[in-house]
Amino acid sequence: MFDVLGVGACSIDYVYRLPDYPRPDGPSAKLRISSRTISPGGQTATVLCTCAALGLRTKYVGTVGNDDGGRRVREELMRRGVDLADLVERNGPNPYAVVLLDERQGERIVLWDRDDGLRLRPDDIRPEVIRSARLVHVDDVDAEAALRAASLARSAGVRVTSDIEQVTELTQRLVAAVDVPILAEHVPAALTGEHDMERALRAIRRGHAGLLCVTLGARGAMLLEGDHLYHEPAPRVKVVDTTGAGDVFRGAFIHALLRGDAPRDILRFATTAAALSCTKPGAIGGVPTLEEATKSIGAI
Ligand SMILES: Nc1ncnc2c1ncn2[C@@H]1O[C@H](COP(=O)(O)OP(=O)(O)O)[C@@H](O)[C@H]1O
Ligand SMILES: [Mg+2]
Repeated sequence: MFDVLGVGACSIDYVYRLPDYPRPDGPSAKLRISSRTISPGGQTATVLCTCAALGLRTKYVGTVGNDDGGRRVREELMRRGVDLADLVERNGPNPYAVVLLDERQGERIVLWDRDDGLRLRPDDIRPEVIRSARLVHVDDVDAEAALRAASLARSAGVRVTSDIEQVTELTQRLVAAVDVPILAEHVPAALTGEHDMERALRAIRRGHAGLLCVTLGARGAMLLEGDHLYHEPAPRVKVVDTTGAGDVFRGAFIHALLRGDAPRDILRFATTAAALSCTKPGAIGGVPTLEEATKSIGAI
């Protein structure tokens, strides 16, 4: 029995720290790289590493490549105690990202690619695995696989959370298929045409009865429960690298949800854990422990 089953993406991140953002004209057209690192990450892999660091039993269903990147991701997940019995290894390079990190603010631009052969397919998901979890988390990288995982979970009475970062023709269906959509900041407006965040969430509410959450970067996060809106500002921290902040937020959100926290406490815990992750380099590298996250609530 697992607490959290994650269905979705991993990545090997090539992180370049830069003194500025590159721009085609002017002095930032050529920039010296301050430092570079290679670190494991990717949406669902980072969510699971967060859940594991917070003490949950986790399992990953996703693809890795059979190259050095794939080996590194696998080793990191294993080291963190994520079950890999349903990991799918494919011929080809691991999905990767080039992360351009502006070291002045710790914000980043992510450029990514993935071999089509590494797509997670709906039939890679075994129904009995879905039923072995208390909660299933999906991202939207392979939306058809995510939809199948969500519908299998739903019919088995297993709760589903999600990471929704892009709007495609499948997004409405994915939102409807999960219990708790956790949306990236630009998604509510793109889904509803409503640019005020509260109104956009209330518009999504018309077709969805569950908790609706959106992350807002340095402005924290919002959660709509029934018709009650919660907004939790992000703690102010010295930001080193925001890569993975959204995934750490989701992992911590899941932890608090599973232990039965009230909405306000879920948001506090998740924004605290995410802020802590911004103070360290790397996606998975920034994952805090339960003790670190707990003692930092209200203290950072
Ligand atoms: N600069 C920051 N300072 C403190 N917390 C942050 C910062 N950036 C992000 N966070 C936290 O991480 C969460 C996710 O960040 P966000 O930028 O919305 O996601 P993404 O990972 O998609 O960039 C936010 O809700 C917030 O709690
Ligand atoms: Mg961000």
